[in-house]
Amino acid sequence: MISKEQILEVLTGFYDGGYHRSAVELGLIRDVVVKESGVNLTYVVTEEGANTALYRQELEEALRSVGVASAHIRFRPITEYEREALEAKLNGGASPQGHAAAERPQADKPGRSPLQNSLLAEDSKTKFIAVASGKGGVGKSTVTVNLASALARLGRKVGIIDADIYGFSVPDMMGIEERPGTSETGDKIIPVERFGVKVISMGFFVEDNAPIIWRGPMLGKMLQNFFAEVEWGELDYMLLDLPPGTGDVALDVHQMLPASQEIIVTTPHATAAFVAARAGAMAARTGHAIIGVVENMSHYVNRLGEVEYVFGRGGGAKLAEELHTELLAQIPLGAPDNAAADPDYSPSVYKPETPAGRLYEELALRVTNKLEA
Ligand SMILES: Nc1ncnc2c1ncn2[C@@H]1O[C@H](COP(=O)(O)OP(=O)(O)O)[C@@H](O)[C@H]1O
Ligand SMILES: [Mg+2]
Repeated sequence: MISKEQILEVLTGFYDGGYHRSAVELGLIRDVVVKESGVNLTYVVTEEGANTALYRQELEEALRSVGVASAHIRFRPITEYEREALEAKLNGGASPQGHAAAERPQADKPGRSPLQNSLLAEDSKTKFIAVASGKGGVGKSTVTVNLASALARLGRKVGIIDADIYGFSVPDMMGIEERPGTSETGDKIIPVERFGVKVISMGFFVEDNAPIIWRGPMLGKMLQNFFAEVEWGELDYMLLDLPPGTGDVALDVHQMLPASQEIIVTTPHATAAFVAARAGAMAARTGHAIIGVVENMSHYVNRLGEVEYVFGRGGGAKLAEELHTELLAQIPLGAPDNAAADPDYSPSVYKPETPAGRLYEELALRVTNKLEA
């Protein structure tokens, strides 16, 4: 199979319409993923009104010349921030601070987190994806469970830590009725598996939905247990459903976690996006790299097939711009259409073949393209 380097080499001759220089050298060709089935890549467009159809044609032609039969090329406009960085680079200056952090997962700082587990070992290949929101009720947990299930459908080994210790909801949302087991040696907890995803949650250890009343040190102890006392096996992705908002609890959890890729969930309402920006700022300040925004409850498709913007419009895109990241998905309103009698029943996981199920698969594909390039 052709390598990523070979792809970039053959595309070096492609000149960007905005800067009239090699797009590869300008760093405009991103997220190159080579698969059996073809090549995926993202082109960051710098030119206002660019003829992307022509770009596509020429890029595909170049790829065909080296035997790539199928190319999936995604175009997205350059962000203001990337533009600044690019201009600075072209002018021989340093790139704006923080750019590297936004682009690349940051290496875990030694001593940063009290958490311990082989998942956190230096040679661990597990990628942590934290899902955060500015406030509760926007669909953070819904996004977590559906992204996790979709990643599992794409063949990845996935776990979820329901780190929303006080507001845990993952077991119920996934329709989990079992409880975790213990290992043969009796010293480890075996997570519950549902839809191919290994799950651990405070909900498994609480009687009758009793409220959790511990503070600080116990919170840390519980998170530590979720990492250290659980037999996770090998995982490609660990998703973390964070506590909502930007209060003490969210800050504590942010600081305790290993450096993660973070997804911020918002609704399309302007106020929600404004509040979500604070969650983004917290993520950045605590050393996590924001990989994108998911806009949930984006719109509603009515019986006539018309799109209605029930909760306003544009919040996700605006937030993505503000956080110098991309809008990864827009998920419409609509509960999963499941019957309780179905053995695969779950209140919140969309079936793969439904429109929302497919959107989550696209989201999962985007995430893997971004993190596995
Ligand atoms: N796209 C959607 N369409 C309809 N209902 C949704 C959607 N996303 C989430 N919900 C519902 O909204 C409520 C809040 O979602 P949840 O994921 O629990 O939010 P959070 O974790 O941010 O508090 C839940 O009852 C959930 O089932
Ligand atoms: Mg939740």
